[in-house]
Amino acid sequence: MALRTIRLEGDPILEKVCRPVKEMTPRLEELAHDMVETMYEANGVGLAAPQVGVLRRMVVIDIGDGNGPYYMINPRITEKDGEQVGQEGCLSVPNKVGVVRRPNHVIAEAYDLDMNLYTIEGEGLLARAICHELDHLDGIVYTTLVEGDLIELDDENEEDEVE
Ligand code: NI
Repeated sequence: MALRTIRLEGDPILEKVCRPVKEMTPRLEELAHDMVETMYEANGVGLAAPQVGVLRRMVVIDIGDGNGPYYMINPRITEKDGEQVGQEGCLSVPNKVGVVRRPNHVIAEAYDLDMNLYTIEGEGLLARAICHELDHLDGIVYTTLVEGDLIELDDENEEDEVE
């Protein structure tokens, strides 16, 4: 496994729509594991493939609830309801957060690393992370969804959850 370089806001790759994964290959499996390692190293709760420069529909999520990491290949949200309004960050937008409105509950389908379809249900932070990461696959960075201004964090606040 290896750490990958996280692309930062302004990099055009973050605004592109990713292609589906047709079959799992050793190379894509290595990418998935590298994404998890990179996410943990950066203290993030999620990471999408375009954030490490790969335009494939793959995300990893671990909100620290003991159930992660989730590997989500070709994910799609099948149900969403409720609403939450809260601060969100992104590993591609360091040291900033902004308020984003998201559904409070989502159900999504995705393939795992063996390309078996599974369902994931998330509330609160997990729902937020799923929405945030899936947006990345369509070239959407949360900064375009922020209500109000982005907030600059002090270095001491870097422990905030970032996606
Ligand atoms: Ni992000």
